[in-house]
Amino acid sequence: MSSEYPYATLQALLQLENPLPWTEHWSAAEDFLLLVAEHCLEQQPASILECSSGLSTLVLARCCQLNGKGKVTSLENGETFAQATRENLSALGLNDHAQVLYAPLEPQEVNGRRFDWYQRQQMPQQIEVLAVDGPPGFLQQHSRYPALPLLRDHLAPGCHIFLDDAGREDEKEITRLWCLENPGLKHRYLDYERGCSVFVLP
Ligand SMILES: C[S@@+](CC[C@H](N)C(=O)[O-])C[C@H]1O[C@@H](n2cnc3c(N)ncnc32)[C@H](O)[C@@H]1O
Repeated sequence: MSSEYPYATLQALLQLENPLPWTEHWSAAEDFLLLVAEHCLEQQPASILECSSGLSTLVLARCCQLNGKGKVTSLENGETFAQATRENLSALGLNDHAQVLYAPLEPQEVNGRRFDWYQRQQMPQQIEVLAVDGPPGFLQQHSRYPALPLLRDHLAPGCHIFLDDAGREDEKEITRLWCLENPGLKHRYLDYERGCSVFVLP
């Protein structure tokens, strides 16, 4: 990621005429989105999964459209947010490149701890890119921790995992736990607006 103005760079990279619907405080950080978009345009993944829908879904779906391949599956716990994202996809002609699954949070046990995390149905296999920007951190401690242990069997070798808000204490602990529990997992931290951690599975 090499831009002083990530949002403008992203807009140009995606060759979109109209401004993307960015929401302060809720949309994924713009430098995070640019990094994931650059990765997807270079690597052309067939299967992308994201935790939480919104602007990120539009960006990733547009990458698939430009690549002429790949599909985004987005897990969204808010029914109205899921519907809003579907409408935005439709308005941009991106319906064929993403599906937004309404996935309410439900209690799940992970390594002896209980978390509210997305209901898992219709999960794709061989996911090559996983973008983690939900569930919201205020809901519980280590809210995004379950993503790796619960999805591990769906991730392809070499899968890239992008964790937004990685500068927060909670996400730093999640990073420490993931690295501890997954031998061979590569990690690098990027000093972005909200911090970004990138993991690569062996
Ligand atoms: C950090 S936001 C997700 C952002 C998404 N990845 C994007 O780039 O737009 C995490 C969750 O917050 C919820 N959310 C999104 N916008 C919201 C808003 N304006 N107010 C309250 N909750 C919101 C949705 O359920 C969403 O999945």
